[in-house]
Amino acid sequence: MAEGLRAYWYQGVDALLKGDEALAQDIFMSAMLECQVDEVQERTAELVAVLENTAIELLQASNWAGARKCYEMALEADQSFENLTLKRILFWREIYTQHCENRGYEFKTDWFSSNIPIWNQILKKFVDSPNLSFLEVGSWQGRTTCWLLDNILTDPSSTITCIDTFQGSMEHESMGLGEVVKSLESVFDYNIQQTGRANQVKKLVGFSQAWLRQLPVNSFDFYYVDGSHVASDVMEDVVLGWGLLKESSIIIFDDYGWRAYQDQPTMHPKLAINSFLEVFQDRVKIIYKGYQVIVQKI
Ligand SMILES: C[S@@+](CC[C@H](N)C(=O)[O-])C[C@H]1O[C@@H](n2cnc3c(N)ncnc32)[C@H](O)[C@@H]1O
Repeated sequence: MAEGLRAYWYQGVDALLKGDEALAQDIFMSAMLECQVDEVQERTAELVAVLENTAIELLQASNWAGARKCYEMALEADQSFENLTLKRILFWREIYTQHCENRGYEFKTDWFSSNIPIWNQILKKFVDSPNLSFLEVGSWQGRTTCWLLDNILTDPSSTITCIDTFQGSMEHESMGLGEVVKSLESVFDYNIQQTGRANQVKKLVGFSQAWLRQLPVNSFDFYYVDGSHVASDVMEDVVLGWGLLKESSIIIFDDYGWRAYQDQPTMHPKLAINSFLEVFQDRVKIIYKGYQVIVQKI
């Protein structure tokens, strides 16, 4: 990409994200006016790529409004632009946001909804099945738990066991979530009540490393690993959880692509997830590897 133009594209994206769409369009237009006619197609493709990549990065940072703006601007720049994954995520996000409002949920963060398209695909086989047992380490305010209850654990005989200290993790303080942490457990309880399925939830308050040792072996169909992000904790969570899982069960690890702590591998889930995948390579099938990792126990 020509260096001079790169600066224009990023300046324009910056203006767009600050809410000045007219300025963004002016910047993009000035860059186009500097090109030769035969370069316009190539430059448009560059601009669209910058907007597309920014939209993906913003989604990973849960900046939905920014992602939507970039997606819409990419469509405006090139009407044939298509990124089905982005489109699907933004589409589901809208439906899901409306659903949360209707239910009266109280969520202060959203680290979940970009997963909906892939979770829908992988977990649809469980919908309406009786006697399912799901396990979640790291429930926070219950966003994922509520989605599972609303969409997957739809048979009243199915349950989810949620383990959380409800004390947050060290990164939450630096993210400015100190106040949210103070009321985690009561907000979790409130949200679970709003599902109308509170009787399907078993809440276990405390450290996963302690609770996972007390649960029945060979009893869970699904395990979501989203508690502490410290590699050694993630390793304990998955190894202690392994024996609790039935054959063919699904394990989902969150934050494999987490942007924080990339330079401190022992503070990041990736080191543990990669180690697990290597050691258990003959015993798991990898279904998906992106921001999350999804495997099936075989
Ligand atoms: C990233 S949040 C989970 C987000 C949640 N899954 C969602 O979708 O909104 C991580 C949670 O793990 C909990 N946690 C951290 N370390 C833990 C541990 N060792 N045992 C149990 N819970 C832990 C924190 O209290 C926090 O609620």
